[in-house]
Amino acid sequence: MSKSSSTHRLASTVPLTLPSFPPLAEYRAMLPSLWASGSVTNGGPYVHELERRIARYLPARNVVAVGNGTLALQLALRAVGGARGVVVTTPFTFAATTTALVWQGFTPRFADIDRETFVLDTELAADALGRDAVGILPVQVFGNPAGSRELVALARERSRWIVFDSAHSFGVRTDGGSIFHLGDASALSLHATKSFHTFEGGAIVTPDRSIARRVSRMRNFGFEPSGDIEEPGINAKLTEPHAAIGLLNLGYLDEWIRARAERARLYRDLLAPLRSVEVPRVTSARHNHIYFPILLPDRRRRDRVFRRLGERGIRTRRYFFPLTSDFSFMPRALRRRYPIASEIANRILCLPLYHELPLREVRRVVREVRETLA
Ligand SMILES: Cc1ncc(COP(=O)(O)O)c(C=O)c1O
Repeated sequence: MSKSSSTHRLASTVPLTLPSFPPLAEYRAMLPSLWASGSVTNGGPYVHELERRIARYLPARNVVAVGNGTLALQLALRAVGGARGVVVTTPFTFAATTTALVWQGFTPRFADIDRETFVLDTELAADALGRDAVGILPVQVFGNPAGSRELVALARERSRWIVFDSAHSFGVRTDGGSIFHLGDASALSLHATKSFHTFEGGAIVTPDRSIARRVSRMRNFGFEPSGDIEEPGINAKLTEPHAAIGLLNLGYLDEWIRARAERARLYRDLLAPLRSVEVPRVTSARHNHIYFPILLPDRRRRDRVFRRLGERGIRTRRYFFPLTSDFSFMPRALRRRYPIASEIANRILCLPLYHELPLREVRRVVREVRETLA
């Protein structure tokens, strides 16, 4: 396979991320069949092939591709949890986790996160379930699968459903088997900023065939093979051109993850001597290196590094800040303090990371961080 390459370069700035692309010619070669058949959406051959290939890669039993990760979350929540009730979740996440819940008619109940791994704390989630919560929506933040098995055990013990926001987890593996066999369902984002992408895209992954069948109908307005609709759905279809880029990208993904890992290793080595920078622990056996988060000592210094690097053309991101519980649409009662999540949101900064990031730019980023903190 020829070496992959992006067609664009930004000379003076270092973006936070850049989508990985295969050589353009490979993508072009996939288009004539679409033009000839006229089959560009509604579950064409590329979408079916992509679902099969993703299932093999992760591995997972059932994969249903949809238009983006937010729709994947909404369909998974609706198919697994109905559309009513209190759901225990984390405020340390991207807005879509919380807005998807609210859009589907659920009421979020936030519990704090684990200080080391940033995922929903199992003990606090157990307390938050109370008698009335119907399910759990944890997030594998930055692709960290920590706590996933414990949270599934909790859900099973208390007879509640569990859906994972696995937007960051494509390509993550653990020693204990695939994380995509866990829980009732997981929702993946295949957005261009992710380590594996279809430009825009998402997928519901589930060990349960009946849930897979239900979300497949839901993504196509709710149509049954007979043409009847028993349960109204939505249009959440992934198109053939999106699936085609996914098929190519999957062939390069291991190469891209190795390149990301090399950059992450260099960051770790160069940051190790800096006492005021903490690099979170990675708990997966095979990480996807989707982001490179660091913790600064406090919000003042985090914001100073964010601004200074920005002035030097280095894009970083305060991800996730603010907590989703602090958005002004949230009821006041939910905007209470989650001490660990608040602390992490105030200290976190994601540094640039993508597979083609030049190693000299990694060194420059670390130099700028060091000089700003000096
Ligand atoms: C944790 C989390 N959940 C959900 C989403 C939504 O995915 P998408 O952008 O594909 O809709 C994202 C996107 O970055 C995310 O980070």
